[in-house]
Amino acid sequence: MSIRLSSGKEIPIEMHKTRMVQKISLIPIEGRLRAMGEAGYNAFLLKTKDIFLDMLTDSGVNAMSDNQFAEMIRADDAYAGSMTFYQFADAVEDVLGFKHVMNAHQGRAAEHLLAKVFIKPGDVIPTNYHFTTTRGHIELLGGTVLEIYYDDALKTESTNQFKGNMDPQKLKNIIAKYGKDKIAFVRMEATTNLIGGQPFSLANLKEIRKICNEHGLLLVVDGSLICENAYLIMQREKEYLSKTVAEIAKEICSIPDVYYMSGRKNTSVRGGMIGTNNKELFDKIRPWLPVYEGFYTYGGMSMREIGAMTAGVREMVDPTVAGCAVEQVKYFVNRLVETGIPVVTPPGGLACHLDAMKFLPHIPQQQYPAGALSAALYIASGIRSMERGTVSTDRDKEGKEVMADVELTRIAIPRRVYSISHIEYAIDRINWLYRYRSLVKGLKFVSEPPVLRFFGGRLDPLDNWGRALTEAYKREMGEY
Ligand code: F0G
Repeated sequence: MSIRLSSGKEIPIEMHKTRMVQKISLIPIEGRLRAMGEAGYNAFLLKTKDIFLDMLTDSGVNAMSDNQFAEMIRADDAYAGSMTFYQFADAVEDVLGFKHVMNAHQGRAAEHLLAKVFIKPGDVIPTNYHFTTTRGHIELLGGTVLEIYYDDALKTESTNQFKGNMDPQKLKNIIAKYGKDKIAFVRMEATTNLIGGQPFSLANLKEIRKICNEHGLLLVVDGSLICENAYLIMQREKEYLSKTVAEIAKEICSIPDVYYMSGRKNTSVRGGMIGTNNKELFDKIRPWLPVYEGFYTYGGMSMREIGAMTAGVREMVDPTVAGCAVEQVKYFVNRLVETGIPVVTPPGGLACHLDAMKFLPHIPQQQYPAGALSAALYIASGIRSMERGTVSTDRDKEGKEVMADVELTRIAIPRRVYSISHIEYAIDRINWLYRYRSLVKGLKFVSEPPVLRFFGGRLDPLDNWGRALTEAYKREMGEY
């Protein structure tokens, strides 16, 4: 939640106390320059010993609660029939309303199962926006992702409160063009990750449901970030201002045929799940679970993780949990807006996103401005962020570059991990970097994996710009 100080200023306030800590350290800038070089100017390849604030992602790096740790100890280890799984299923039914549930080892494993069962070569999958792993699984099965957001969803500076909405007219056009049999399913992603963590509204989700009903189409919701979406609906959608996060999350889940989520975000656990109230669909998916993941009652997760996920599912709709990252993102984004830094607005659910094409307008998209900005931010601060632009977009079948719609540098906020002083530090160093932005130049690939290249690709800084940036930093700021 956020709280108003007597000065009138609003700050996010942590509704938890820290009872276990992990030491982090800030290495001098020469060490950061060396580490970035060794990582091939790819933040994924850094080692955590060299990282001060790890804001690469909010996935798998959240602080767990005391209840979650307790459930890990209580967990009932069994290959089959573990009571821990049944307690998980009860929590899912209570909180999300699904009668049928299976675990998967994480979100992409759920995507793999759904793609395997529903997609045939030549199918299309309309979505409000793709996620990298989702697209990967769809394309591997011969499907094509069609993104049908409203035109302003990609405008980084906007006042549209629901940039995650799907354009219903575009969905109707797709149905008319391809016909129902070519549409494997319609996919809506909560807190749409790659366009800046932007929510959809419940009104929009209901409208899309109506169209799916009219044409007999399956609707799938990716709820990896459901709680942030529900929290933002509670703050922004008129009809829901007096509803709770729990009520809104349950209503979202009442709409699709199939729901899946990564457990690594909202439930703070390595894991994932698929839920549905349609027994026929469930029976189509579940036979594949033991083939790819594990037996029906563990699905690739350890019982300890399922125990922790059970507590996580129950706690995630508490507004102080659902809103902890949202409020920090809002503070972060608004402070950067005040100082004229180009960021994605309105503030979204999982991260502060710098608009790299505006931050570094002198770098052409072919030279990966978002990747360069992520590398520069690390050198200037020890903060690890994530490139979400053309580096994160694989080449097409002919090997040609596909330019991303937006070039974002994502500075994610893990839940209940960092404090406002950490965010103040980030704001300060981003401002420093903005003043010296002309020193940052582009990148070029020196080695490039054939799929999801952003994970393991290595790049070189053009004109060795990391050195020039380091020298400027040392002159003004010293070693730290
Ligand atoms: N769907 C969405 C919307 C996601 O954000 C993610 C992961 C996945 C699916 C895949 O889930 O990692 O458990 O296999 N997002 C992470 C991120 C990786 O950093 O945003 P997973």
